[in-house]
Amino acid sequence: MARRVSIVFLAALLGWFAGVLSQSPTTTTDTRADTVFTLPPNADVGLPVIPNIQDPLAIDPQSVCTGYKASKVRNVSNGITADLSLIGEGCNLYGNDVKDLTLVVEYQAADRLHVEIMPKYIGKENSSWFILPGELIPKPGVDDKDCTSKSDLAFSWSNRPSFSFNVTRKSTGDVLFTTMGAHLVYEDQFIEFGSSLPENYNLYGLGEVIHGLRLGNNLTRTLFNADVGDIIDANIYGHHPIYYDTRYFKVGGKSEKLTYAPKATDKSAKYKSYTHGVFNRNVHNQEVLLKESNITWRALGGTIDLYFYEGPTQDKVTKSYQRSAIGLPPMQQLWTFGFHQCRWGYKNWKELQSVVDSFKKFEIPLETIWTDIDYMNQYRNFENDHVQFPYGEGARFISKIHDNNQHYIPIVDSAIYIPNPDNASDGYPTYDRGAKENSFMLNPDGSTYIGAVWPGYTVYPDWLGALFNSTGTNKWWSSEISTYHEKIKFDGIWIDMSEVSSFCVGSCGSKNTILNPVHPSFKLPGEPGNKIFDYPEGFNITNATEAASASAAASSQSAAASPAATSSISALYHRTTPTPGARNINWPPYTINNFAGDLGVHAVSPNATHHGGTQEYDFHNVFGHQILNATYHALLDLFPTKRPFIIGRSQLFGSSKWAGHWGGDNYSLWSYMFFSIPQALSYSLFGFPMFGVDTCGFAGNADMELCSRWMQLSAFFPFYRNHNAAGGISQEPYVWSEVIKASKIAMKIRYALLPYMYTTFYLSHSTGSTTMRALAWDFPDEPWLANADRQFLLGDAVLVTPCLEQGATTVKGLFPGVGSGTVWYDWYNLSAITGVTAGQNVTIDAPLGHIPVFVKGGNVVPLQQPRMTIADTRKSSWSLLAALDGKGKAGGGLYLDDGESLVPNATTWVDFSATETSLKAVPSGNFTDMNMLANVTIIGLPERVHGVQFDGVEVKSGWTMDGDSKVLTITGLAAYTVDGAWNKERNLSWRFE
Ligand code: NOJ
Repeated sequence: MARRVSIVFLAALLGWFAGVLSQSPTTTTDTRADTVFTLPPNADVGLPVIPNIQDPLAIDPQSVCTGYKASKVRNVSNGITADLSLIGEGCNLYGNDVKDLTLVVEYQAADRLHVEIMPKYIGKENSSWFILPGELIPKPGVDDKDCTSKSDLAFSWSNRPSFSFNVTRKSTGDVLFTTMGAHLVYEDQFIEFGSSLPENYNLYGLGEVIHGLRLGNNLTRTLFNADVGDIIDANIYGHHPIYYDTRYFKVGGKSEKLTYAPKATDKSAKYKSYTHGVFNRNVHNQEVLLKESNITWRALGGTIDLYFYEGPTQDKVTKSYQRSAIGLPPMQQLWTFGFHQCRWGYKNWKELQSVVDSFKKFEIPLETIWTDIDYMNQYRNFENDHVQFPYGEGARFISKIHDNNQHYIPIVDSAIYIPNPDNASDGYPTYDRGAKENSFMLNPDGSTYIGAVWPGYTVYPDWLGALFNSTGTNKWWSSEISTYHEKIKFDGIWIDMSEVSSFCVGSCGSKNTILNPVHPSFKLPGEPGNKIFDYPEGFNITNATEAASASAAASSQSAAASPAATSSISALYHRTTPTPGARNINWPPYTINNFAGDLGVHAVSPNATHHGGTQEYDFHNVFGHQILNATYHALLDLFPTKRPFIIGRSQLFGSSKWAGHWGGDNYSLWSYMFFSIPQALSYSLFGFPMFGVDTCGFAGNADMELCSRWMQLSAFFPFYRNHNAAGGISQEPYVWSEVIKASKIAMKIRYALLPYMYTTFYLSHSTGSTTMRALAWDFPDEPWLANADRQFLLGDAVLVTPCLEQGATTVKGLFPGVGSGTVWYDWYNLSAITGVTAGQNVTIDAPLGHIPVFVKGGNVVPLQQPRMTIADTRKSSWSLLAALDGKGKAGGGLYLDDGESLVPNATTWVDFSATETSLKAVPSGNFTDMNMLANVTIIGLPERVHGVQFDGVEVKSGWTMDGDSKVLTITGLAAYTVDGAWNKERNLSWRFE
């Protein structure tokens, strides 16, 4: 797998980026390209920089910096404060040393310890110093004044040889975080601190990244939101500086002693794990170096603002992180859990109609149809192309799909076209209205910052101006969205390019707007000569010659990409050194390993300025967050009582309270289908349950087999969308007959599970629990699960073990918990999995068209009848699947509301509990649901059933017992529940005799 990943990765990279970033256009998809000015290719080329971590001449801060000494240590309520003073003259290595710091240690809640180190004299010692405003990014505070003694975390510190601190878990004596052994470095553009870590540590999080779930001990995570494809291990769209650290201990001896177990080879031993979380509330570009035995954090600004979550389980950390720091995710409308179809390249309303019709023809459920930038008038937000996507026809199309309970979502980009001042016919009222409200970002000299994206030269909404300087940005944005909705009745919004992308390094120049509209300096996917789409991946396997040449090309390219010899390195690269009293905004002295190199490449430059004077340097990673904030509130302005549905690309910690996220520009490659699982699980840890990826892959061409597997896998992700880049072959599920079959099978399960998925999601929304789960989280005492990311759980009850390999007809999977009595049942035939031992990798049948799904004993799963739309599914009768555990028990719940209201005026919770002889449903709440209970299936019974009673009445017919598989199926309950299954307590019982 590893070799395949690297070859396909390079091939994909060469294809995509060579195509996207370097050439000049001729055209197809963009009809302007022959007639308009094309940006010169060098517009988006920055200075040659070398990432510090790759620079042989880079100085290790620990070799020259001397750290701080603590003094004036004072006990205050809930913690301590101290002064930290720089030892000696400092090092001024990658910024100007801050001489005086303040340390605040604060027990905020029984499970949360806050450690903050910030400059003592804000704005005096160094006027460019930056503190992240709480009004922008909420700051956790003390929740419990009396929590210090309740906490299992202990803080200690030392001044030898320089200031360091430890956070220890009292109950185990385990040191969770220790800065001992490394000096604290605190400069205006560079902060370094870190901790040693135990052998073979298990760290998760630190996104956004395309990587396995467990991060491993040889990885540098760069956090700088970027408009880039899903490049493995590079910085991509999101900023989540939090990690989870899980430590496994062997439990042994009479006193049940805990011994750290870095390698759990003995599967018969007893283990216990502890998980804690470390969150750094810092929005600056940063890098986290994971080395063999330590973690080093390097940030280009902000403060050290750490929150230690004691756990001791993943579930507790995730919940506490959301509750204290980032907020809980919003409840989604029910229909959003249906299947979504999208692509870049749908040409007009007619084509959309034919896509919708094809789904109908092949009887594949379709809930929502999306349009990419193709619908826009010359790629301008809030305006439709009058020829291909006229408003009248659009209104008719949308009204028709609405009548069928289907939905429509358009893309909205982040940059705003600036009209050509010399061309009176080039009016763009959206721009004019924004300009009137001072809504756009500035250059340092106060003129408007000009970038370039799809429409040509653009401006950028200044979300911070609105927050701190009363510019009208949010008001303008909300009004544009409402005005557009008058013409096009969309049901949600897809926010793109929000890192925020610009195809010029620095401002493109205010005077150039007379050339608008202009074409980007590179060919768009689908334009002739931009060969980014090749044969589907499988072709390489069946055609050895093709495979060999691709691999040779990949290795010669990778050799060419290796760093130049040391002797010439100094002259080749642009480096800066600190300037006393000032920051180097565009080229900070410490160069992060940004995939695109120079921070100005493919992004609005760090020196772009907000109204009020703050700079992008300090807020780059906040743009994507704030556009989601603005869009969420704009949708609420439009529909004050409805839950806004937004899927966004760039995000920050906390964006999850407004929007879901899709995994960005992946590839139609088997490896990327795999990566969708760890990416989704990481987003569970970041508090984003509404997550999915471009099913069947965005760039490149999918084939039948890949798309078949992927349509089945994504059916178990909360956000389920097939999306494709322009220029690729079609990949809607009806394109291949095998994919039609496979999709229908998986969609039937998904739509049947709708009440279960909605309830699981509701729990994420209301408690912070995860919807998609790694096996290790629900089975924390099995160290061999630490790295398990090829399978996942959907909520408590459903285990998905997808086949991720081309040509395979079986898949290897674990059945967690079997060593301690967990029972698993096959979804399809309801039989119990037997004869499996703890940690055993079991070969499971997975012929094409079949996705192995298992139900965990101990769960009562509420189901409905799968239909073509979510509305119809929701109107169908109920079923229950009660899967008994090894002790003959099961439980579960069902959440019901109207499926759309922000604050529903009626809700019901139904509590299910089953024993070996009974199943009880106890509703509480006031939501009226008239659907009948059609059938109940009990699995895992000890013996044959001889009689069934429902609410005290003997059910004479309408039930069957399959004695061999011990499955009781009761189908005769509808007559007893005509007023609705859950309008009163229900009692089902059966007897064996
Ligand atoms: C980049 C997005 O990631 C992708 O999904 C979209 O299709 C293109 N922009 C075009 O809008």
